[in-house]
Amino acid sequence: MTAGTDLRPPRATKPSKSWSWVTPLGLLVVAFLAYSLPPYLAFDPAQSRVPASFGAHYWFLVGHVVFGSIAMVTAVLQIWPWIRRRYPTLHRYSGRVYVFAGVLPSGLMALTIGAASPFGPATRASDVLLAVVWLGVTGAGYRAARERRFGDHRRWMIRSFALTMSIILNRLIAPLAVMFLEPQVPTTFGGSEIALMQSVSAIAAWVSWTLALMGAQLWLDRKPTSAKIAR
Ligand code: HEM
Repeated sequence: MTAGTDLRPPRATKPSKSWSWVTPLGLLVVAFLAYSLPPYLAFDPAQSRVPASFGAHYWFLVGHVVFGSIAMVTAVLQIWPWIRRRYPTLHRYSGRVYVFAGVLPSGLMALTIGAASPFGPATRASDVLLAVVWLGVTGAGYRAARERRFGDHRRWMIRSFALTMSIILNRLIAPLAVMFLEPQVPTTFGGSEIALMQSVSAIAAWVSWTLALMGAQLWLDRKPTSAKIAR
């Protein structure tokens, strides 16, 4: 049977195994949200970390961040094999929340603020493409589940998960890029702090999601272990 016509719900591993990676993943998400959310839950545009580039920019950003947080939290629930096996109904409901109260509204708002990003044209291109791909792979995953093509559903949603989490990678790459490039302001950037800032933002934007997507694809294409073949 090809993966595309696999009608069985995905099989899950034991809780003891999955706790070992879900716990650090959950902690990482909590740490990211604890750092990222406060300026946007204050509903005070003066606290934004992103300079406004149009009138309602801050409010689009607030919506993007709040719905993005819902996507992140539900993504952890969705990827957790123990939940899928023990609570399949929760997986179904939380999956709808992930798509319709997470990725869809957050992605549409990212498209808007991304097209007007104050961090320059290279970041704008990355933001818009990422938003389109995020919405696209998530839509494909949702559709596959509705059509009971669970093999396809799993693959599309692993890609969607990787893109949702790629924002964390983005925030880790940016300070590294600053450290590496700041000494080059007088040379490479001709003394321009703006050129430095735009380069750092573009590097973090492009590298984070392309790496995450490649990682997801490598994971999906990995050879099954002999233990798995034997099962
Ligand atoms: C995966 C698709 C995503 C896209 C395309 C995207 C796009 C954007 C854009 C365009 C901005 C404004 C900054 C700029 O102009 O470049 C932004 C900011 C932000 N995004 Fe996203 N984002 C995505 C996912 C997420 C997720 C899942 C979260 C989780 C909460 C998130 C949290 C934030 C935060 C907190 C900011 C404000 C910047 C800061 O305070 O650090 N984003 N995003």
